[in-house]
Amino acid sequence: MGIIYNKEHKTITLQTKHTSYQMKIGNLDYLIHLYYGPSICDADMSYQIMQYDRGFSGNPYESRDARTFSLDAQPQEFSTQQQGDFRTTSIEVVNSDGSYSYNGRTAGYKISSGKYQLDTLPCTFATDADTVDTLEVTLTDSVSDVQAVLLYSVFEEADIITRAVKVVNRGNAPIHLKKIMSVCLDFLNGSDFDLVSLPGRYGQERQVERQHMTHHIHTIGSVRGSSSHQQNPFVILCDRNATEDYGKCYGFSLMYSGNFLAEAELDQYDQLRLVMGIHPKQFVYELKPGEVFEGPETVMAFTEHGFTGLSHLYHDFYRNNLCRSKFVQEVQRPVLINSWEAAFMDFDDVKLVEIAKAARNMGVDLLVMDDGWFGKRDDDNSGLGDWYVNEDKIKCGLHKLVEQINDLGMKFGIWFEPEMVSEDSDLYRAHPDWAMQIPGRHAVRSRNQMVLDMSRKDVQDYLIKKVNGILDDADIFYVKWDINRSLTDIWSNNAAPEKQGEVYHRYILGLYHVMDEIIKTHPDILFEGCSGGGGRYDAAMLHYYPQYWVSDNNHPIDRLKLHYGTSFVYPVCTMGAHISDSGKFVPIKTKAVVAMCGTFGYELDATHLSEEEQAVCKEQSGQFRKFYPLIIKGDYYRLTNPFKPGNMTAWQHVSKDKSESLLSVVVTNLTCNGPQEYIRAKGLAPDALYSINGGEELYSGSALMNAGLPIDREVEDYSSFQFYLKKQE
Ligand code: DGJ
Repeated sequence: MGIIYNKEHKTITLQTKHTSYQMKIGNLDYLIHLYYGPSICDADMSYQIMQYDRGFSGNPYESRDARTFSLDAQPQEFSTQQQGDFRTTSIEVVNSDGSYSYNGRTAGYKISSGKYQLDTLPCTFATDADTVDTLEVTLTDSVSDVQAVLLYSVFEEADIITRAVKVVNRGNAPIHLKKIMSVCLDFLNGSDFDLVSLPGRYGQERQVERQHMTHHIHTIGSVRGSSSHQQNPFVILCDRNATEDYGKCYGFSLMYSGNFLAEAELDQYDQLRLVMGIHPKQFVYELKPGEVFEGPETVMAFTEHGFTGLSHLYHDFYRNNLCRSKFVQEVQRPVLINSWEAAFMDFDDVKLVEIAKAARNMGVDLLVMDDGWFGKRDDDNSGLGDWYVNEDKIKCGLHKLVEQINDLGMKFGIWFEPEMVSEDSDLYRAHPDWAMQIPGRHAVRSRNQMVLDMSRKDVQDYLIKKVNGILDDADIFYVKWDINRSLTDIWSNNAAPEKQGEVYHRYILGLYHVMDEIIKTHPDILFEGCSGGGGRYDAAMLHYYPQYWVSDNNHPIDRLKLHYGTSFVYPVCTMGAHISDSGKFVPIKTKAVVAMCGTFGYELDATHLSEEEQAVCKEQSGQFRKFYPLIIKGDYYRLTNPFKPGNMTAWQHVSKDKSESLLSVVVTNLTCNGPQEYIRAKGLAPDALYSINGGEELYSGSALMNAGLPIDREVEDYSSFQFYLKKQE
């Protein structure tokens, strides 16, 4: 059992293979956090908690003249509101009498086997191979009778603990929830921590940033209505000296695609608190008596093996326990060609068939018809919302077009941007009230499009019907689901004034519902998420889509950083990566090496390639197929940091049994007559012998890992190498 309750000490210990997490039903029934880190079995960690009279800190009323117990200095599982703890809160409530107060004390706990699920939000799940137990601790505010139900699931083998929270109004008056954080983790000594996050921008998503904790609240979050290009709902707290391979790292990955907030506060006593959940900006959720609010799940991991150790935990967990799509586990995903950078919106059925014919010679399996096939859509000023085929472009009709592609031995994919509407569209003319806009004000335009009010049931039903209709009309193998702007003008025509503070969140619930319905009806379709590139690349999206477009930036040298940052939490099998015309001076071989750090495909006009170039591409597609199991299922290692000055960027995929590996190197910056570079491999069997690219010479795993491989300097700029290492039996 991964969860142990110790009656004598009133401790509850969550135990994974290598980690322990402990809490205690403490003084006055407050739920005290005791420990998260390397395994301590069920040792009682209460001895760490020292209590002093901390001047100016509040003491609970029941403590009377005993001034040593203050929530302001206690590590807690769920920080309270207005109870003398001045640090960041887990919950903020406005009670029916207008008071701002929440005082949750432990009212009970329950341990069960299996993984909890949430009714309204996506969650990770247990497979038959997992041993998972769940702890449910109920905190109650005795005045309002509002409960916070804390949920923990312990994945023993995976070394993962998930957390979520439900707020239940058992009182007899409505309350308003203004803040609800899914996780609260306190560290008794936090001064030696760094905070790592993945900030970015359009075209440069998930760059890596690391900051030392100082005495204030460090916040990472998004208020763009989506998890965004600018930040990502994933943070790491790590030792100040943590590296790729060594050091303690705690990861927090929030399963939510809307506004989010992570706050890391180093307090006056050098204690550190991390909370993470839905961003409180414009969030006011009314909870009537009997109603329940569910906060999103946070996936937590801990390792002593640095960033690589942490990434491996997330990669394995997200490959096995996040997305139900059959494609996650399927041996081969198709090599695709996408029409976007080939033709933008200037195509017709004839052009698409021409691209497909050329792509077939390149070993491509799937043609994706991107933006421009529907309604009146010759540029991005019109047509969104009109999900019917534009027969001026697709003259033969969708069904026939797909047949022609299938006759070439290829599959067919299609693009949608369901959440948006153009002012110049039949949908907007029929339902202007379906677009988000605040009465009396003009809605902000972005890419000259408006946002559909996904919180409305009629909008959800329309989209499910329209998208399903197209998917049922032809043999569609793949869908790219895009969203190309941030949310503004948050106001729903369908909601009462006092409910407008719920719209941001209800938008996300509506979106999940629509995706769920479409995916459930089409379990055999391969879905890829996209948001103007990689703008909503988060764990919740990966619950629905097995792959996500990393960025609109296809420049292979920029991609090195994009793949590096993304890989901190999201597995390579989720990364949409293509070869395009971007990167004029970069050889096509290098573009292919970079795109093989992902799902691999093309984003160019194949009809412009010569026969020789098409043959090169065919070879690359073949290489990708050959290496696919290794790339998609193996362990991924970052061998160099592309954000640091250096001449080469290298990474490696190693099969789980260490019998084979693919080590890739891109030369980014060659200095004249510079030192010889060696790339040290990782993850090999030290005692085993490996051949390289089928050569006769054998190298020991320990030599390759300790001395490394010399990289030829006499090459052109942006050259690349792939070393396929095969263990000798
Ligand atoms: C943004 C995406 O990232 C692109 O790949 C493309 O699909 C365009 N949208 C289409 O409008």
